[in-house]
Amino acid sequence: MQKPILILGACGQIGTELTMELRAKYGKDAVIASDIREGSESLMDSGPFELLDATNYEAIEDVVMHYEIDEVYLMAAMLSATAEKFPMRAWNLNMNSLFNVLNLAKDRKISKIFWPSSIAVFGPNTPKKNTPQSTIMEPSTVYGISKQSGERWCEYYFNKFGIDVRSVRYPGLISWKTMPGGGTTDYAVEVYHKALETGQYNCFLQEDTKLPMMYMDDAISATLNLMEADTEKISVRSSYNLGSMSFTPNEIAHSIKEHIPEFQMDYQPDFRQQIADSWPSSIDDSFAKRDWGWQPKFDLDSTTSEMLRNLRQE
Ligand SMILES: NC(=O)c1ccc[n+]([C@@H]2O[C@H](COP(=O)([O-])OP(=O)(O)OC[C@H]3O[C@@H](n4cnc5c(N)ncnc54)[C@H](O)[C@@H]3O)[C@@H](O)[C@H]2O)c1
Repeated sequence: MQKPILILGACGQIGTELTMELRAKYGKDAVIASDIREGSESLMDSGPFELLDATNYEAIEDVVMHYEIDEVYLMAAMLSATAEKFPMRAWNLNMNSLFNVLNLAKDRKISKIFWPSSIAVFGPNTPKKNTPQSTIMEPSTVYGISKQSGERWCEYYFNKFGIDVRSVRYPGLISWKTMPGGGTTDYAVEVYHKALETGQYNCFLQEDTKLPMMYMDDAISATLNLMEADTEKISVRSSYNLGSMSFTPNEIAHSIKEHIPEFQMDYQPDFRQQIADSWPSSIDDSFAKRDWGWQPKFDLDSTTSEMLRNLRQE
């Protein structure tokens, strides 16, 4: 039987779908959702929920003891675009929440952790194409600096204290259930909503900015597969590169035009262009494929079909 799981930041873009998937798999009472705010109606109705601040060690510890939690998924964070506006708040949230969870494991109160990193760990000096697992990492954003530091701490806690912490570097994630929370790839979700609502979208990145992206179903199955993998198969204790597709705003516009021929995309790049320019355009994820059988299912066209089909039914 699955021992109880706690999700911190469960009401966000990833947390909402992760919570639902874990509940479908292990039963609703085995998965405790938590966040500093309430989430969607379907999430709130789907099982136990606690209002919980991921930066408050004692509060997390209370919930962990109460439900006899064994595994924690830490999804609370401030994302790339918002973090540039509030650097110290981003650093405090992203690092303190991670230390809280790592230290709970060090104190043997929980035994397994999932913590997501990001392609933002890479920087302008990183090879952009097919970016290797290990390479130059000089992130130039507050968010990227916090994720790179987080990766170093995860590996350190594994080596020093034997903590079973697992991580992937998510690319930009595309989903229809929950809106994204202030990242540089948010355009690739907003564009589908606007295509259906008004037939036009003002993109905040240039038309030829190629970035690694992934459909949410693939991101969730990667997360579950990694967490279920045998310990001896995990050779990377910082964070695994994870890839599926790469495309530009121009290419997503063409993919949408296959379904909505009159769709019009315009371009008004803002401060997020600079962030996007510092990130890879494609990712070498051969370690994830080799170690725990990672295999993505969705490309751009199947993502577009799924997004438009689901949003039309909303
Ligand atoms: N969405 C992406 O494209 C993407 C890509 C790479 C990495 N990631 C990482 O995945 C994780 C989840 O991302 P997301 O897209 O779901 O983010 P999100 O912004 O949609 O959700 C984050 C959630 O954390 C909650 N939160 C904020 N402060 C909190 C606090 N102090 N205590 C508890 N909860 C708090 C928010 O209310 C929100 O529900 C983050 O670590 C993020 O950096 C996301």
